[in-house]
Amino acid sequence: MIMISLVIIISFSVIYFVSYQNTKNDNRQKLEMSLYYPSSTYSSANLPTDLAGYDLSFTLLVNDSGKVTQIRSFFELTQEEYQQAADIALSQHGGSTIRFQDKQWIYTVENHLVTEVWPNGQSTGYLVEQRVINFLDVTTSLAALNRLLITLIVAMVVTLAGVFLISLVFANRAIKPISNTWEAQKQFVSDASHELKTPLSTITANYDVLMSNKEETVESQMKWLGYMKIGIDRMIKLINDLLSLAKIEDINVKISKERFDLSALISAAIETMQARTHEKNINLELDIQPNIVIDSDAELVLQVFTILFDNAIKYTEENGDVSISLQGAKNRAVCQVRNSGEAISNETLAKAFDRFYRADSSRTSSASENAGFGLGLSIAKAIINKLDGEISAENTEAGTVFSFSI
Ligand SMILES: Nc1ncnc2c1ncn2[C@@H]1O[C@H](COP(=O)(O)OP(=O)(O)OP(=O)(O)O)[C@@H](O)[C@H]1O
Ligand SMILES: [Mg+2]
Repeated sequence: MIMISLVIIISFSVIYFVSYQNTKNDNRQKLEMSLYYPSSTYSSANLPTDLAGYDLSFTLLVNDSGKVTQIRSFFELTQEEYQQAADIALSQHGGSTIRFQDKQWIYTVENHLVTEVWPNGQSTGYLVEQRVINFLDVTTSLAALNRLLITLIVAMVVTLAGVFLISLVFANRAIKPISNTWEAQKQFVSDASHELKTPLSTITANYDVLMSNKEETVESQMKWLGYMKIGIDRMIKLINDLLSLAKIEDINVKISKERFDLSALISAAIETMQARTHEKNINLELDIQPNIVIDSDAELVLQVFTILFDNAIKYTEENGDVSISLQGAKNRAVCQVRNSGEAISNETLAKAFDRFYRADSSRTSSASENAGFGLGLSIAKAIINKLDGEISAENTEAGTVFSFSI
């Protein structure tokens, strides 16, 4: 703003200064050209015919004692008034502007040889040196200059205000994504610290119990050691998740694409996790189109599928349904993981992809061993973004559907 203001102020000042100089020069030139003094008595016959445009001037001849002796004028003023003009002009030094008869004038004082006249106006026939004062009325041109000054000031204020508003809007707009990222970063650090605190306090508390029973055998203290192990495992999971996120979101880490059979990959992943569906007595429905071959990073795709399948098992009720489908369509492979269970609003589902977001009160139960950190879906989303795919969640009559396509 300061730089722009300086540029505007300087350019407007230059405009005014140039106009001021031009007007001044014009007036000086007019004053010079309008200098005409009568060789004898004043009479209209003595006036040159090409004085058009200089009718704003008058010329006075003044004798040594400062008395006006001859007048050449387009104005109708009295002898006293002309004398007054001569007095003002002679009392001032330099060719400044003077005020007279409510007008502004510039003038010159020069010595010239002129024909001497008798008091009755008759020529004596001698040439004498006399002071010649030439006046020019510059009221209108100075008024025009003033108007220009006011116009420039108003234009400058309006321009500066406009520039200020525009800068404000654009600066805010430019800062917005940066400040959003900054806020998100702060939130992330605070959430991550919070999540680390819980398992750490579990470990410390159990360590204190162990220390207060030093004489006991390890065998008899297994309970406390087990709690400590749970805390340590949770910290390991959290740190692995955070590292995963950092790695995926690092634009410098390139993905290694290779051809692989997605159908086989997903079928194998389901096999390895089937024990968990049995635990909860979940009815698993599969609709996997065979031989879907894609060009992508198999490890990352497996990670996404595992996150979705893990959630489906975790968030469905005992004896619930989970169905998985994989279809190839128009150069894309689409995988859907659906699970029955309590209906979740689409609003909640949209937030599920945020880091550390957990629906309902699961945050309070985060000390329990199978409570998640709310990072799974954000990792899945980051991976899918990196693989140029799409991931979405939807609430249907048949349950919650998470699907991704690559
Ligand atoms: N299949 C699902 N059915 C119902 N709710 C779900 C499902 N998947 C995710 N959610 C909701 O979205 C939230 C975020 O899921 P996300 O996988 O990111 O975290 P998490 O499962 O809680 O923990 P993490 O995966 O890090 O162990 C969950 O806490 C849950 O409330
Ligand atoms: Mg999860």
